[in-house]
Amino acid sequence: MPDKNLHNILLTGATGYIGRRLKDRLLGRKDLRLRLLVRNRNKVRPEVLDKVEVFEGDTFNVEVLAKALEGVDTAFYLIHSMGSEENFEDLDRKSAENFRDACIEAKVKRIIYLGGLGVKETASTHLLSRMETGEILSQYPEKIQTIWFRAGAIIGAGSASFEIINNLVQKLPSMITPRWVNTKSQPIGVEDVVNYLEKSITLEETSKNLLVDIGSAAMSFREMLLAAAEVMGLKRHIIPVPVLSPKLSSYWLILITPIPFKLAQALVEGMKSETLVLNQNAQLYFPDIQPEPYEQAVGRALKEIEHDQVLSRWCDSSGSSACDIKGQDDIHRAILRDIRTIDLNGLSAAAVFQSACTLGGQTGWYTYDILWKLRGLIDKLIGGYGLNRGRRENLNLRVGDALDFWKVMDIKKNKRLLLVAQMKVPGKAWLEFDIQSNVLTQTAHFYPHGLLGRMYWYSTLPIHNVIFVNLAEKIVEQAKKYEAGQNEQA
Ligand SMILES: NC(=O)c1ccc[n+]([C@@H]2O[C@H](COP(=O)([O-])OP(=O)(O)OC[C@H]3O[C@@H](n4cnc5c(N)ncnc54)[C@H](OP(=O)(O)O)[C@@H]3O)[C@@H](O)[C@H]2O)c1
Repeated sequence: MPDKNLHNILLTGATGYIGRRLKDRLLGRKDLRLRLLVRNRNKVRPEVLDKVEVFEGDTFNVEVLAKALEGVDTAFYLIHSMGSEENFEDLDRKSAENFRDACIEAKVKRIIYLGGLGVKETASTHLLSRMETGEILSQYPEKIQTIWFRAGAIIGAGSASFEIINNLVQKLPSMITPRWVNTKSQPIGVEDVVNYLEKSITLEETSKNLLVDIGSAAMSFREMLLAAAEVMGLKRHIIPVPVLSPKLSSYWLILITPIPFKLAQALVEGMKSETLVLNQNAQLYFPDIQPEPYEQAVGRALKEIEHDQVLSRWCDSSGSSACDIKGQDDIHRAILRDIRTIDLNGLSAAAVFQSACTLGGQTGWYTYDILWKLRGLIDKLIGGYGLNRGRRENLNLRVGDALDFWKVMDIKKNKRLLLVAQMKVPGKAWLEFDIQSNVLTQTAHFYPHGLLGRMYWYSTLPIHNVIFVNLAEKIVEQAKKYEAGQNEQA
């Protein structure tokens, strides 16, 4: 229920890159009452569920939208449909119209939106859609005020731009790059973005719409790569050549970085033209915020990764489907299964769970890593995520986390970990670890699509026989090490 003595906020996109960070920030504010509109409440951490009101639904569900906005003073619009398989421009247009109309109906005082920097003449289709969203949200200033922020590349642990920079710099001592690496843009640290968004809740200017461009000093992508290398203590060489097309550059990016083709293409398109701050409203309305220099934002991102405390990642949101981890019941449709059970002989469920939860990423898959890597490479080559996404943190998992080419679908502490496959397979696949009555049951579930799906399953059986037997055994082996380590510490 809204509270008249507090400022009532509705946050959308709270399971996405920016929204997650803003949510964590706003949770600390005693003067606010926070509500979330999410497509899947399982993606909200249990400890957060106790502190906020959660409405499950999307912006296409006008009933849920109306309920979620009841009594709200300020509504954040931090969503986009870019990953959707359908026409994302149409979805974004409809989504923004629904949101704006529902806000007006509910007498919300202010919408806060974050879009992208750039001008229409040179904008990519993605950026044009972000601009159209801003225009739709701010169409009726006489009825509702909109504060529309525009940002270029956002630099922070887990952001797509930072992961591209980080991977290129770490992996390539010399880089042959397209000419447009010299195009200027104004990157901004994610911490500053969250500062602006937070401050805009209580900004006193209430009479008109505001367009606020945010960014730190202008620099080219080449300068960003070299500056990041310096922060990391690395020496890098960049050789721009005229022949690399945006398409070729995107293919190159998907091989070297965790970013999938569609996102790489949008980012590359965006880099071809200048994205600079075009108004001074950030200084005028938010004089307390001095965006940190790019190098500082890089240092901060590296520290977050080093401390294994990455708050959010570009792949937290669903990407290509309406909600990629919805419908746990789907698993019951699986008709082919590979089941392995291991008696734990008194080994604690906690140690086995911990062992299963540290799979993937830098740790790898405990055994036959070369086969996992090969599968990852094949996946990348046929347009999937491959293994490059790794994981957000080495030790912790939460629902919605990407885990190599899997996504975490369910976690029950010390009992169950369920992963859904996001690799390219002719069907739907899950990997489940279930710990009960001192037994670990590891099940690979598969729902094949037609004949091809069945052929895939049976042709990979010999490999699965080796990998899956070994995986279950190694999880238990690793668990024994964890337990021995804990006993030593005690
Ligand atoms: N990240 C950047 O580098 C960057 C740079 C400049 C500007 N921006 C802008 O910042 C805003 C937020 O971007 P982001 O990177 O945080 O996005 P993101 O990580 O892709 O997250 C998108 C969020 O929107 C939710 N969502 C999508 N469609 C929805 C719908 N119809 N109804 C309800 N929720 C929906 C997703 O939920 P699920 O979890 O269910 O998928 C997810 O929480 C965007 O406007 C973007 O243009 C971002």
